[in-house]
Amino acid sequence: MPITKSTLHEVRKKALTFLAESFEAFYEYAIAVDQQGVISWISDGYMDFLGLEMSPVGHHITDIIPNSYLPHVVTSGKPVFLDLLYIRSQWVVVSAIPLQDERGNIVGGFAFVAIESASHMKPLLAKYNVLQSQIRDVSRQVPTRNVRYQLSQIAGRSEALRTIKHQIRQAARYDISVLLTGETGTGKELFAHALHDLSERSGKPFISINVAAIPESLIEAEFFGVAPGAYTGAQKEGRPGKFEIAEGGTLFLDEIGDMPLVLQAKLLRALQEREFERIGSNKVQKADVRIVAATSRDLGEMVDEGEFRADLYYRLNGMPIHLPPLRERISDIEMLSERILDECAGRLGLLPKELTSGALDLLCHHDWPGNVRELYNVLERACILSENDNLIDITKIQDLLGPRLSKPRPPVEKVPEKPVMPTPSQPPRPLKTQLQEAEAAAIDEALCHTRGNRSEAARLLGISRAALYEKLKHGRYQKGADADN
Ligand SMILES: Nc1ncnc2c1ncn2[C@@H]1O[C@H](COP(=O)(O)OP(=O)(O)O)[C@@H](O)[C@H]1O
Ligand SMILES: [Mg+2]
Repeated sequence: MPITKSTLHEVRKKALTFLAESFEAFYEYAIAVDQQGVISWISDGYMDFLGLEMSPVGHHITDIIPNSYLPHVVTSGKPVFLDLLYIRSQWVVVSAIPLQDERGNIVGGFAFVAIESASHMKPLLAKYNVLQSQIRDVSRQVPTRNVRYQLSQIAGRSEALRTIKHQIRQAARYDISVLLTGETGTGKELFAHALHDLSERSGKPFISINVAAIPESLIEAEFFGVAPGAYTGAQKEGRPGKFEIAEGGTLFLDEIGDMPLVLQAKLLRALQEREFERIGSNKVQKADVRIVAATSRDLGEMVDEGEFRADLYYRLNGMPIHLPPLRERISDIEMLSERILDECAGRLGLLPKELTSGALDLLCHHDWPGNVRELYNVLERACILSENDNLIDITKIQDLLGPRLSKPRPPVEKVPEKPVMPTPSQPPRPLKTQLQEAEAAAIDEALCHTRGNRSEAARLLGISRAALYEKLKHGRYQKGADADN
C-alpha cells in the first residue's frame, strides 16, 4: 500500500498520543524548574522518593539534587533523554527537557525519573550498579607505578603524625630499607608512597606486593619472575617478577610478616647480593630497588618465636617507622574527616558535607579498631545516607558506629597520666578515683549530647555553668568542650 500524506499524518498523530500517555505515566516522579533552576513544581511521588518532608518549591534544584541535569538543560536548551543519575544511593534513568514559551524562549525545564515505569530497565541498572562498585574495588587494589600520595596529602596534625612525617623525610634522603609497622588501616601504604615520592627514585616505578594476598606457591614467581619455558604451563616467553619491574624504583612489601620461611631466605639473598635469577634461569640479574616493608605483626616477637629470620629482619629494619593507631592520635580525626568527606562527596557528586560538633565528638570517642580505613568507610556511608543534607549529625554517626558506642568514654590521646578504665579482673580502686571517672564520663556524655554546648550540658547535669567550666578546667576532658554555644 503506497504511503499517502494522510496515512503519514495518522501515524504521527498516533505516535504523539502514545508519547503523551507514556509521559503521563512518568509523572509520578517529576519536577519542574524555572529558567534560573529554581524549583516551581514537584510531584508528590517524587517528594516521597527523595525523602523530602517539606516542599522544595522555591529552592534551587541543586540544593535538592546536586547533580541534576536541569541547570544544563535550561541554559543550553538541549534535552537529555534516558541518562543515568545517582540519586539516593542508586542509579536511576532520567530525562529532562527544556520548556519554551510561544516565542521559543526557554522559560524552564522539566525532568522525570523512569523508575516504576521502566521495570524492564532494572536488570540493566542492577548490572550497572554492580559494575560501578567492582570498578571502584579494583581501582583501589591495582598496584600502581605512579605515586598516588604525597606527604602533604596525608591528613592530620597530631604530634605523632608530625614525627612520622619527619622520619619519612629523613628516610627519603638515604637509600636504606624502611620498615613500617602499625595496625591495619593506619596508613602504612600511604606513607610508603609518600616516601618513594620524596626519594631520588621517584622518577622510577613504585611497585607493591601484598605477601599475604599471594598463594605461597606463587610468591617466588611473583618476586623473581619466570624464565621462558621454565616449567609446564609457564608462559612461553616467561614473565618478569616484581624485582625486575621495580628496577631502579621502590618495592613495597606489604604484610611481610606473612612471608614463608623458605622464601625469606631467597629474599634475603636478593637483598644482600643485590641480584637474583628468574625461576628456571641461570641468568643473574641486578636488583636495584629500595625495599619498603610493612607489617601489622610484631616481627621482633616473630624472630624470638623462630617464625621470622633474624638476619632478614635486620636487613629490612634499616629504619623502623611506627604508625600509632588512630585512637592514640584522636586530634587527627577532625582534619582526616574533613579530607575524607570532601573526597567522598566529590566522588559521589553530592553536596559538600560537614560534621556537627556532636558527630565529631562521637567519632573522637570511638576506638577505631580498623583505624583510618574504618573511619573512611563510616564517613563514606554517612555521606551516602545524608545525600541531600550538608550536615552529618550525631544520630547518623551513632547508627553507623553501632552499639559499641552507646557508652561514650573519654578520648585517649596518648598521655602518660591517662587513667586506666577498670576491668572486672582488677581489684576495686579507690572510691575517689572511680567517682572522678564517673563524673568525667557523665560530662563527656552530656557534651556529646549537646554537641559541645556547655551551657546546655550544665543544665542537663543540674550544675551551674561556672561549675562545669571549673570541672573542665581541672579535668582531662577538654576535647568535647571546645565548641561553646
Ligand atoms: N593520614 C591519612 N590521611 C588521609 N588518608 C589516610 C591517612 N591514613 C590512612 N588513610 C587512608 O586509610 C586507608 C588505609 O590506609 P593504608 O595505607 O592502606 O593502611 P595500612 O596499609 O596501614 O593498612 C586508605 O584508604 C588511606 O587512603
Ligand atoms: Mg595495607
